[in-house]
Amino acid sequence: MTNVTDSKSEIQYLVNENTRKTDSEKTSAAFMNREVVEKVRHFHKSFPEYQVTPLHNLDELSQQFGLRHIWVKDESYRFGLNAFKVLGGSYAVGNYLAERLNVDISELSFEQLRSKEVKEKLGDITFVTATDGNHGRGIAWAANQLGQKSVVYLPKGSSEIRLTNICKEGAEVSITDLNYDDTVRLASQQAKENGWVLVQDTAWDGYEEIPTWIMEGYLTIIDEAMEQIADAYNERPTHVFLQAGVGSFAGSMLGYLVGKFGDERPMTVILEPDKADCLYQSMRVGDGKPHAVTGALDTIMAGLACGEPSKTSWGILKDYAEVFVSCPDYAASRGMRILANPLGNDPRIVSGESGAAVGIGFVSFVVQNSRLIDMKNALNLDQDSKILIISTEGDTDPDHYRKVVWDGAYPSF
Ligand SMILES: Cc1ncc(COP(=O)(O)O)c(C=O)c1O
Repeated sequence: MTNVTDSKSEIQYLVNENTRKTDSEKTSAAFMNREVVEKVRHFHKSFPEYQVTPLHNLDELSQQFGLRHIWVKDESYRFGLNAFKVLGGSYAVGNYLAERLNVDISELSFEQLRSKEVKEKLGDITFVTATDGNHGRGIAWAANQLGQKSVVYLPKGSSEIRLTNICKEGAEVSITDLNYDDTVRLASQQAKENGWVLVQDTAWDGYEEIPTWIMEGYLTIIDEAMEQIADAYNERPTHVFLQAGVGSFAGSMLGYLVGKFGDERPMTVILEPDKADCLYQSMRVGDGKPHAVTGALDTIMAGLACGEPSKTSWGILKDYAEVFVSCPDYAASRGMRILANPLGNDPRIVSGESGAAVGIGFVSFVVQNSRLIDMKNALNLDQDSKILIISTEGDTDPDHYRKVVWDGAYPSF
């Protein structure tokens, strides 16, 4: 096997000593139960755009890496929006409207929600949110489909193409001169001042219901993936690698695994950019509380550029995630190139900076770099390992994607 010696390896990891116990005091993941999964899947299946997204099997890559399986669930196919986020946004908007209509979401289809009668009953609503791009596009799409308005704020440095794509969904959209967390505060303040509905994918004290619905909405991904792996391979993963911004996506996936498998669940590894590693840093402080990192959060992993953990997901991650990793940008760029240049008959996967890239990039370093042997051992990565990685976006910034994949930006050496 190639021995990769990256001279600038600054990948950091921490093993969480608090896991592998499903003791009754831990209730943080209790809301991710089967009943909720069924409700969410039922709702998403009512969308005309709904299709199970592909699960790719990277056979040749797993042999190269000395692993049994590498599966990549490809969310770039989700609803034609190139990212997974619409699952959370649409379910949260659906739940909010169901509450206003005084019915349970299980009794509503998306078709009913966009009917003339429902629109007349509800009147005009404006949904507002802050986003790196993907969540805002999902909210704008959902609002547009329902004949409602949306206002979307992006943080400083966001790419024009992400703004344009949100604009195409009919939203009023602007790039602020604030970082992500301050943009969230701006959206919240605008909601209060204008009587708009804040649909934010992160929770804080006093703002928990909508972010919880968003996390529930993401459950469709992992439920599909577990079905696909069981149906095609009669297996389940031993490891799940989850990238995190505020942690809602990772908390949702992990909450599901805890509910389904309990102590027998796969080992879960949380990956963040080192410029915005609030979960890793919170784990490092070790007082059980979430901690913020501040500053420009300038990583190429735009979707993960968040400095403050979501309150709800932090509870799940600190209780159940086994390993926290802080990764430099070159881990993501290497992962993008690996997936774009498949070995043998493996499929080509277009995965953006915040997609599967950081997971694959990280695994590639751990299995190929003898200096990272301690990490490999801590992760128990060997020829019996069956790993699942979720590619949460495609090339949502195509110019930057080509800079990385064609021109080799952010080299690993
Ligand atoms: C493509 C992509 N992957 C992962 C994430 C991380 O999700 P979360 O902020 O819930 O941790 C995001 C967030 O925007 C994203 O856009």
